[in-house]
Amino acid sequence: MSLLLAASTQRTIGWVLALLVTVPVLFLMVRRAFVIFAKADPEVGSEVELAPNRLPAVPDEFLEGTRLDRSLGAGLVTLALIGVLLPLYWLGEPGRIDGAEANWDRIFTDRGGESYEENCTSCHGPGGTAGNATFTLTDASGNFVSQVAWAAPALNTILTRFSEDEVRHVLNFGRNGVMPAWGGPGGGPMTEQQVNNLIVWMRSIQLDEDKIQANVRDGATERKAALLFEGDRDAMSDAEIADETARSMAAAEDFMAEVDAMLAPLEAEAEETLAARIAGVERLPEGETRDRELAKIDGQIESFVAADLLEEGFADQETLIGWGEILFSNRADSGVYGCARCHTAGFSYQAVELARTVDGNPVIDEYDQGGGAFGPSLTDGATVTRFIEPGQQQSFITIGSQTGVSYGSTGRSAGGSGQMPGFGARSEGGNDYNALLTQPEIAAIVAYERSL
Ligand code: HEC
Ligand code: HEC
Repeated sequence: MSLLLAASTQRTIGWVLALLVTVPVLFLMVRRAFVIFAKADPEVGSEVELAPNRLPAVPDEFLEGTRLDRSLGAGLVTLALIGVLLPLYWLGEPGRIDGAEANWDRIFTDRGGESYEENCTSCHGPGGTAGNATFTLTDASGNFVSQVAWAAPALNTILTRFSEDEVRHVLNFGRNGVMPAWGGPGGGPMTEQQVNNLIVWMRSIQLDEDKIQANVRDGATERKAALLFEGDRDAMSDAEIADETARSMAAAEDFMAEVDAMLAPLEAEAEETLAARIAGVERLPEGETRDRELAKIDGQIESFVAADLLEEGFADQETLIGWGEILFSNRADSGVYGCARCHTAGFSYQAVELARTVDGNPVIDEYDQGGGAFGPSLTDGATVTRFIEPGQQQSFITIGSQTGVSYGSTGRSAGGSGQMPGFGARSEGGNDYNALLTQPEIAAIVAYERSL
């Protein structure tokens, strides 16, 4: 409303002011020009009559009467105008500030978007929806092995996983020799402002939590289907591949139903524990407070379920670890919802799938899941030593690592690099982050990692 008011009154007041000033000025100028023009060619001798010192003096009655009144009147009108116009102008100020701020954001978002299209679309896909980078694989002595497509992550969840500073670090320095360095500190071509514009633009394309959850589940189901696919694609006909794809997809959906069945009683139990609180909140009038309280309760239910899943001797280990495995190696949107792209060598360029088509190359036959790549190895019980309690591992994955802060029971002395993303809902540095993964999903991954 204030913006609207500002936009319309602002313009009207501007016009009135402009007219108030320009009309009299124009009138005076025209009159003056007319007088000058009319007297441009005075008759000879007429100046004698016009000589000021020979004019009759203006009488006191006029000077102290009409003229004085007129001058004072004009002063009063000007004062009144200023008195009215200044507060009116002031009234529009908040609207103008809001307008300027909205414009400011829009300008930098637009600039970031243009820069993205120019510099990043080729790898990260249109609108930051994931793509591939061409990468040349070499062996240990630098000989050409193969040209591969390295998955370039979707950027529409990046600010759920990383803080702006952590994203700035990747933009400045690049990563793994495949993501180029863009910022000055890493030797790239962009100024700090240009890097910031990109971050402002990324902020404008972030997905909401419901969409993220749907993507996680679809990706995990597809991953399960890929693991359940039987037979050698290269030796199968198109019809056989289609049949086997349909069969493995149906089996994957059955598996997800098993996961739901595993969670349902735990959720019911948690809801029962919280029944009194839920009933209390539901009695609140509908609105922001109520929604916030219900969201808090949902968070608590998730935490209870996660704790149950990680309880020693949890009955359905097989489903739990199987679920953790597909969440860990989720390939959706170039792997952004999973862990394998950073913790499993070759996963980002499909090294195993590639081994089938490139002959005589040293590209691996099988993934060593969690064997370490950009992130450290998680195998041979590495996480069991690092985090004595599974709950510690759960909160580390929820929050991610922070630069220079050590973590775990046997903390890394140098502390984290900030490059391990946070995957759960959290508050950090005064900012709230949406969940990329729910607490039960993270618990499944913890169980899987501890089994490696
Ligand atoms: C040559 C291809 C290429 C270009 C061009 C490129 N990137 Fe990347 N980028 C990648 C790859 C590949 C990764 C993932 C690296 C890895 O797997 O370690 C990546 C990673 C990232 C990440 C970290 C994502 C995450 O979830 O970990 C961000 C942020 C990013 N890029 C932003 C950008 C922006 C912004 C631009 C344009 C200024 C850009 N990239 C240009 C290939 C590219
Ligand atoms: C963008 C790359 C990246 C992704 C994706 C990633 N990690 Fe990490 N992870 C790291 C890095 C880097 C470290 C080392 C800590 C540091 O440098 O801050 C790490 C450390 C860890 C550790 C501690 C290991 C140790 O011994 O220090 C665990 C556990 C872990 N990650 C689990 C996960 C899980 C689970 C996921 C997926 C839900 C995941 N990571 C996704 C990069 C990543």
